[in-house]
Amino acid sequence: MPKNLNIGLVGGGFMGRTHSNAYCKVFHFFDLEYKPVLKAVCALPEEAARAFADKWGFESVETDWRQLVTRPDIDLVDICVPNNLHRAVAIAAAEAGKMILCEKPLARTVPEGQEMVDAVEKAGVPNLVSYNYRRIPAVTLAKQIVDSGKLGRIFHYRANFLQDWTISSNLPQGGDSLWRLDVAVAGSGVTGDLLAHCIDTALWLNGPITDVNAMTETFIKERHHQLTGKVEPVGIDDACSFFCHFANGSLGLFESTRYARGHKALYTFEINGEHASIGWNLHDLHRLQYFDHADDSQVRGWRSIHVSDGDQPYMNHWWVPGLQIGYEHSFVHQVADFLEGIARGEPAGPTFREALRTQQVCDAVLASAKEKTWKEI
Ligand SMILES: NC(=O)c1ccc[n+]([C@@H]2O[C@H](COP(=O)([O-])OP(=O)(O)OC[C@H]3O[C@@H](n4cnc5c(N)ncnc54)[C@H](O)[C@@H]3O)[C@@H](O)[C@H]2O)c1
Repeated sequence: MPKNLNIGLVGGGFMGRTHSNAYCKVFHFFDLEYKPVLKAVCALPEEAARAFADKWGFESVETDWRQLVTRPDIDLVDICVPNNLHRAVAIAAAEAGKMILCEKPLARTVPEGQEMVDAVEKAGVPNLVSYNYRRIPAVTLAKQIVDSGKLGRIFHYRANFLQDWTISSNLPQGGDSLWRLDVAVAGSGVTGDLLAHCIDTALWLNGPITDVNAMTETFIKERHHQLTGKVEPVGIDDACSFFCHFANGSLGLFESTRYARGHKALYTFEINGEHASIGWNLHDLHRLQYFDHADDSQVRGWRSIHVSDGDQPYMNHWWVPGLQIGYEHSFVHQVADFLEGIARGEPAGPTFREALRTQQVCDAVLASAKEKTWKEI
């Protein structure tokens, strides 16, 4: 008999929805020892929390996350609030002995993230950070191919994450839905929001980054602030590009911006090795591009692998071979891996400690851009 696992969700926005959807679906598609129960959601204002609870089937609502994390009927605290709240909620949840799933980035800065790592490790509670792109089957397949050694020596890793939603100078900063433009809440701009994903995937696929050299730009220097009502300086990086060395000797090139007109959420990466290369693109997320130099020369070329067969990562849990899945499923896989890891006593990654490495790269990137110099990690 599966054991009920009571979920306390903090935050009822975009990620609150993706995580709730994952808890609703996961038990239908994976055989798990733990069955998620949507026990309580905390969001603001109270009417929004109630509407969210009604839509997704949460049994109760809270408006103070401190109440939620100490409730004895909550087993797992899921943190889907803006970045400035991650540290306080996670530390309180750890002290209350709860399992924790925290949205990315782990924190706004390395010192904040370090406190979170210390808290979960002192409490000995299972913990995971939601770098969900690792769990898109084509990306997981990329990891399997890299780990198999098929690429040989790696020369290059490059990644982009491009959007275009902040180009208008009339867009305000701060408050609901625009907290990403408020540096006090977000911690940084595209570096923590978008490049953090690219960095997590890169560290996972290609190993540690040793040093970085970055440039950032804030194209629109002042914006109306929704909370203060005043025109305030913009403190976030609107765009960030950096290059780096990996410990395996390869070179990395990363770019992110919210000023790439025409791109809504284009995350791409490519790895070039001695024998083979792989590439992936969020707009075509069920495909992995693969080039193998060992192929017969007359038919050698980039293959577009449709990752939808039962022997490819996660796909045996879904429909029948040939039918693809999408973005939302990465969150279902994340919950499945987290719960399976808890049952087996082997934590799924990235743990808070692993996600702190991404934070270290982000902080070094921002420091490098500010000081116009190389920064070691
Ligand atoms: N893994 C991913 O790909 C991904 C994608 C988007 C966002 N995120 C991360 O998820 C987190 C949330 O982002 P989002 O896009 O869901 O934001 P959002 O603005 O859509 O939702 C934030 C929610 O937090 C609630 N909230 C704010 N302050 C609160 C408080 N004091 N108490 C209770 N609830 C509070 C709001 O009411 C809202 O429901 C961020 O850390 C973000 O970086 C991750």
